[in-house]
Amino acid sequence: MSSVLIIGSGIIGLATAIELSLRGASVTILERGACGQGATWAAAGMLAPEAEQLEGALRELGIRSRSLYPEWIRKLIHITNRDCSYRCCGILTPTLSPQPHLPEYIDRTQLNKKQQGLCDAISGALWYPEDGQVDNRCLAETLIVAARTLGVNILEGTNVYQIAASGDRVTHLETSLGNMHADRYLLATGAWTRELMPLPISPRKGQMLSVFDRDRSLQRVIFGSNVYLVPRQDGTIIIGATVEDVGFTAGNTAVGIAQLLNNAISIYPAIADMNIQSTWWGFRPFAPNEMPILGASIYENLGLATGHYRNGILLAPITARILADWAEGNITDRLTSSSTKSF
Ligand code: FAD
Ligand code: GLY
Repeated sequence: MSSVLIIGSGIIGLATAIELSLRGASVTILERGACGQGATWAAAGMLAPEAEQLEGALRELGIRSRSLYPEWIRKLIHITNRDCSYRCCGILTPTLSPQPHLPEYIDRTQLNKKQQGLCDAISGALWYPEDGQVDNRCLAETLIVAARTLGVNILEGTNVYQIAASGDRVTHLETSLGNMHADRYLLATGAWTRELMPLPISPRKGQMLSVFDRDRSLQRVIFGSNVYLVPRQDGTIIIGATVEDVGFTAGNTAVGIAQLLNNAISIYPAIADMNIQSTWWGFRPFAPNEMPILGASIYENLGLATGHYRNGILLAPITARILADWAEGNITDRLTSSSTKSF
């Protein structure tokens, strides 16, 4: 295959670089900051098409991608000899009133067998055994190692200022290292996509924090209506997340963190006595209908992989496959709701 320049080294750029490289392409990633530090670093790492209640084509894509995860992780471990705490651990969505008509519903007695200590007002839960989690920061590091092992050239601190085109083809990228050329180009710039292309992507800020669960009392991912709790194996519990339409305003706010903590304590009271570890924020790449923009662009040699909003960690393996198919010329359209079945 040909040479590919990828703009952006989040999970989407990295995953696609690896897939392209495995299929024989010569790949370079251009990243203006440090690798894997955008939304990919900020995420919770839930693999949750069911708990997130995804609908239609997005749900189909999410479930397909979730099913690719075990093999994808095996492949990454084989290349890197590194683990990234992927677990098909199931996710619980607590309910205040009984929902016995729903097939996923378990009552409080069954819920207590999966997780004790949830607040008394909870009557039961919806149980999604196939949803799971991965440590997204660890995964990003593994992807970087895998990419380098496979010969992907990663140029950190390299800003892409403009995509230069003539007619229906991209001719080169104008970058802080000068003009760069390749046979094909891939836009994987997450929430910052509009700086380079007039696509309908905008940032949605998410604030997060973590606490330390010394007793490892929380064993399950809890996905509530206004907060989620993601326990890592080392005792860290990730608590997320706000969804704010405030542009690229940086920082954690007192009210953002207060809301998360109040909601977390009201669902799992033991959190009240746990030490706070850290707080952070990130910018989700929001796209209309929450559907990522994948595949062809107005330029025949520029592929798009952006707009993964709340589900980019989940959707990384399927995105890599779709964009590698596009680069091989097997997909000539942009992904639409009616075309997801073929992937
Ligand atoms: P990013 O990771 O943001 O990477 C884009 C990269 O492009 C950045 O490194 C940036 O520096 C680079 N870039 C941009 N413009 C340029 C340029 N001009 N030149 C060079 N480089 C450039 N998803 C899930 O599946 N599960 C979750 O549990 C989950 N939780 C989340 C919680 C929060 C708080 C947030 C914020 C997101 C969460 N997500 C989750 C969503 C997920 O993190 C994103 O959808 C995903 O990380 C997007 O990946 P990306 O590679 O497209 O973008
Ligand atoms: N998927 C979780 C989040 O975006 O907050």
